[in-house]
Amino acid sequence: MSDKPFHLGWFMNFTPGDWSGTFAAGQSPWDGMFYVDMARALERACFDYIMIEDTLMVSDTYGGSIEAGMKHGLFVPKHDPSPLAAVIGSHTKHLGVVATMSTLGYPPFLLARLCSTLDHICTGRFGWNIVTSGEDLAAENFGLDKLPPREVRYEMAEEYCDLVMKLFDSWDDGAVLKDRARGVYADHTKVRPIHFEGKYFKSRGPLNTVRSPQGRPAFVQAGGSPRGRAFAAKFADSIIAVANGIEGMKKYRNDVRGHAERFGRNPDDAKVLYLIYPFLGETEQEARDKHARLTSSPAFIEMTLASISTITDIDFSKFDLDSPLPQLTTNGEQGSLDKFAQWGSNKTLRQLAAERFGGPGDITLIGTPDQVAGTLAEVMQEVGGDGFLISTPFQRTSRRYINEIVEGLVPALQRRGLVRTEYTKSTLRETLKEF
Ligand SMILES: Cc1cc2nc3c(=O)[nH]c(=O)nc-3n(C[C@H](O)[C@H](O)[C@H](O)COP(=O)(O)O)c2cc1C
Repeated sequence: MSDKPFHLGWFMNFTPGDWSGTFAAGQSPWDGMFYVDMARALERACFDYIMIEDTLMVSDTYGGSIEAGMKHGLFVPKHDPSPLAAVIGSHTKHLGVVATMSTLGYPPFLLARLCSTLDHICTGRFGWNIVTSGEDLAAENFGLDKLPPREVRYEMAEEYCDLVMKLFDSWDDGAVLKDRARGVYADHTKVRPIHFEGKYFKSRGPLNTVRSPQGRPAFVQAGGSPRGRAFAAKFADSIIAVANGIEGMKKYRNDVRGHAERFGRNPDDAKVLYLIYPFLGETEQEARDKHARLTSSPAFIEMTLASISTITDIDFSKFDLDSPLPQLTTNGEQGSLDKFAQWGSNKTLRQLAAERFGGPGDITLIGTPDQVAGTLAEVMQEVGGDGFLISTPFQRTSRRYINEIVEGLVPALQRRGLVRTEYTKSTLRETLKEF
């Protein structure tokens, strides 16, 4: 057993399995209360944060049509993460609430103001998942013909973050006096313009919201490319990553920690959480059956290929299912592509699809809560930290699945002393730094 606990996050997909699962209620999630229930359950289980994903397009990459995405409810429909973060924040007391917002989509001033507002509403528990967007289709929704190359996106994002940090600091702590005797609401000497002029962005400031409880939100990032990792290491309080086998996970973590040190940061201040998909059952056989039911379902290959097409901008309908994949690169999610493709394995596309969840190169999490807790303990021990981000395949989140995690897996982890059993801090950044 490791001597300190590890962190848990939840990767929140939007489209619940309410319409297709055997144990799904069929209740519309769009008033937000399904997600609130989910967040409250995660809070009972003492998760560090819920991370609300986002993408900014309806993908037609797979087969040149939106049909597969629409048919299976992949990535769409969804809500804007920000109002949802506000509702979740106001219905919880301890859980971190992280919303994804793309530097492609928001002018920096608006994003800074939105984050500052959300950090107030979430009482210091708000986090911004910084993404640059990875799809040409998203760029087309924002007046561009295509996405800038990754290097340029990160150069822009770096400048963007420098700017918003200055905006967050354009109000000092204690600027608001509410001094009745002198008749002064705020001390004007503690609120300053920033006069930011960069290569890509320009903003005068100051922000017109009051400094938020955390000063700035916690930053979450998921850089996979060398450039993305350096960016994540420079800014992020938590980094989310694909779990591409123990060696891959270890290498990734060592790499971002090395970058963090070079930026003069304490590498322990950037908590790396790995994306996992546990399959749980009363018995190991039940969990295996559940996994087999998913991976052998007629829709599985189409869902797998359509979802990997969406995040890589590569049309996987073009490739022969019974031949190995050619070597591919993407301006989108290269890390997810690399994990899926198992380069050098010479497996056919059909085999790769079947191994998408729990195959070699992944960490296999199929079993009873106690078995899966044991595996997670071993993985963390070998990787060195810092925790896991739990999700569901193909966004099929149901209340039943959430309960399996929070009433089954988390208690099994808690009994082993591996995860927190209570919150002791009030802000998300402090919670992340607690151990
Ligand atoms: C666990 C995880 C969650 C992610 N969530 C999102 C998301 O919600 N929206 C998004 O546009 N990109 C998301 N990404 C993509 C990352 O922002 C990033 O683009 C990707 O990991 C590739 O790294 P790179 O940009 O350095 O190539 C996610 C990636 C990972 C691994």
